[in-house]
Amino acid sequence: MKRLSTFEKLPPSYLFPEIEKRKRAYLEKNPEADIISLGIGDTVLPLSPAIASAMERAARELGTEKGYSGYVKEQGLFPLREALSSKLYQGKITPDEIYISDGAKCDIGRLQILFSHAQSVGLQDPAYPVYWEGSILQGIQSLHLLPCTPENAFFPDLPPGLDLLYICNPNNPTGVAYTRDQLKSLVQYALKNGTVIIYDGAYSSYIQDPLLPQSIYEIEGASAVAVEVNSFSKMVGFSGVRLGWTVIPQELKFACGSPVWKDWHRLSCTIFNGASNIAQKGGLAVFEEGEWQGNLLYYMENARLLKEAFEGLGYSVYGGVHAP
Ligand SMILES: Cc1ncc(COP(=O)(O)O)c(C=O)c1O
Repeated sequence: MKRLSTFEKLPPSYLFPEIEKRKRAYLEKNPEADIISLGIGDTVLPLSPAIASAMERAARELGTEKGYSGYVKEQGLFPLREALSSKLYQGKITPDEIYISDGAKCDIGRLQILFSHAQSVGLQDPAYPVYWEGSILQGIQSLHLLPCTPENAFFPDLPPGLDLLYICNPNNPTGVAYTRDQLKSLVQYALKNGTVIIYDGAYSSYIQDPLLPQSIYEIEGASAVAVEVNSFSKMVGFSGVRLGWTVIPQELKFACGSPVWKDWHRLSCTIFNGASNIAQKGGLAVFEEGEWQGNLLYYMENARLLKEAFEGLGYSVYGGVHAP
């Protein structure tokens, strides 16, 4: 068996374990150092009792003849898709356009299979590693790292002709959230160039300013050019439960006119059998119990403290929204 040659192009280890290794090595030599770690962030607060109980109930039901269910619909439980449609997209996106997943990262990997023929791919630099590393694994030849720095207000200059454009908004790691006009210009670019935008809104619930869009679909025309991946991980601290969703609008078509959702559905049936039914019941409880803003304030306060710590060290901090 030959090794997949694209693995040779990857850095030897994933970013976050590498940061952790260097941090530990530094602390061994400098045990007194007061480190502000910018390595992997994770959620730390317990799930709300209502959500944990809903999952407990779901697990117990599986142990009964009446409550047992095997494979569920690949697209996900309808009530959960309905709740996402009405509560997060105000009905602009229908339940039929929402696909429940085991997390945003896993779906980005599957989207990379769906769009594996892309010739030219653009992504923000810096950004969450899966866009870049997944594209390398896909064997994308023309990968454009688009610098997002204070000089361009962290907004990428787009080269013409990208097939695929990853946009992480708010961005991990910078925390910058784009304005309506900035998102509009991305949608206009995509309409003009026939580009598909993969919009990662994993941190969208951290946007508190009503003037800033949380979803790309708040922008006119976006349904014809954008896929949105999202997650319960940051929204309600589900990082270990594993639950997310992807929106594939009916309007989104390949150049040949075939709808993208058809292939996505086919791909999901072929290599993914849907998210865990227990996790989905937990996700439903998030909306039924009205607890979906619960832990955000704590993590936002963390972000504020981090910002203060950096400013105390004399650094400028630009982002308004940060990851836990
Ligand atoms: C921007 C971004 N997208 C996606 C993810 C992963 O989300 P999930 O836990 O749903 O796979 C993360 C996790 O840190 C992230 O920072």
